[in-house]
Amino acid sequence: MSNHSRPSVHKVPLDLIFSGPFPAASAQWSEVPLVNLEPHMSAVRAVLQGKGGFDSYWELTQSDADQGEPAGDRRAWEKEVARRIRRYARSWMPAHPTIGRYDRDRLILADGHLRCCVYKVQGKRWIRAKLLPDAASRWDARPTEPLSRAVARQNRKSFYTPVEHERFRTQRVSRKGSDRLDLIRGFLGPIRERRLSVLDVGCNIGYYSFHLARQGFEVVGVESDAQHFEVAESLRQMYGLDVELWQGPFESYAPARRFDVVLGLTVFWHFLPPKGSPDVGDRARALTKQLETLVGHALIWESGARGQEEIDLIRSNTGLKHFTLLGQTAGTGVHRQFGVFTRVPVNEAVSQLRGGGRDGGDGRRATLISPPAILEAGTAMQIPASRAG
Ligand SMILES: C[S@@+](CC[C@H](N)C(=O)[O-])C[C@H]1O[C@@H](n2cnc3c(N)ncnc32)[C@H](O)[C@@H]1O
Repeated sequence: MSNHSRPSVHKVPLDLIFSGPFPAASAQWSEVPLVNLEPHMSAVRAVLQGKGGFDSYWELTQSDADQGEPAGDRRAWEKEVARRIRRYARSWMPAHPTIGRYDRDRLILADGHLRCCVYKVQGKRWIRAKLLPDAASRWDARPTEPLSRAVARQNRKSFYTPVEHERFRTQRVSRKGSDRLDLIRGFLGPIRERRLSVLDVGCNIGYYSFHLARQGFEVVGVESDAQHFEVAESLRQMYGLDVELWQGPFESYAPARRFDVVLGLTVFWHFLPPKGSPDVGDRARALTKQLETLVGHALIWESGARGQEEIDLIRSNTGLKHFTLLGQTAGTGVHRQFGVFTRVPVNEAVSQLRGGGRDGGDGRRATLISPPAILEAGTAMQIPASRAG
């Protein structure tokens, strides 16, 4: 246990780190996940990967006197930033980034944005960070007993996705990487006023439900398996997040509402008929009926092994005719497709998401503030509605 009268060093998951506050002119970059911190990420990618650029980081530093960056000669400034990025990339922790605040299970940076973005681009999942006293005591107070009890009761040896607590860091995990979370966050962009609703179908231990709740979405996770559900419940307590979890088959879930965004990651393959079957079958029909009823703007999806069959099923039997491939993923020995289904062309759907969402009660509306990074990166493949089915 650390002495909380002084900052203390902790090992923390990089995906729980959010940017600190920026002044008004750059406020859109405040409290966003690292992958959405475009100015810093773009500069880091430019130096380490030869793509991206310095423009948005330059604009930020020019509009933000508090950043302590030297104004003036841009070439000299770029050289200096590139030198710092290379130094961070070479040496493991030249100085630990500082977490100023722990709030809604997010670690809010006080210092070290560029360093953290370097580690993110390098694909690290855990880093050492210095936590200020109040953040450290809250972070350390996260209750692990419910999860420990569930793991013991189930004699559980592994998790499908990571548990974001140091005590469980070395547990066996089937899908360790942040690739899927990065794709989701890249597609949605940083969200400002935060009342968009999400339904996570087959949420398992709730990994995506919790990450999106950290970003301010209003999330419901549905899971049919009692043991996964028990773990998800205990994680909800550990993370202290306001996520609604519903146990039962998705086919029977009947809320009196639609969701702005639905996640269906590596779950719809359960509903496919046997390979070669001439009829889609009752389960698949039940699935598409549910999707037609419950998906508002976007269905973010990852396939099982028979990806094209899932795509055809959804496009032929729902109004989700537009499919955009966001990336190829792999997990548990299967090559998978990862993409988004929308009712209208994807960019229109994103604008609807920007303008949509419920009023948070304070008169402010949900807003997405940047176009999906993934579309800008040119990796998306859009399939027009006319080729549906
Ligand atoms: C391979 S896991 C994927 C978990 C999570 N979506 C992810 O990608 O990290 C599939 C999950 O879907 C759940 N599942 C399968 N059929 C379901 C159904 N009909 N209703 C709800 N959940 C279901 C399983 O219990 C399992 O937790």
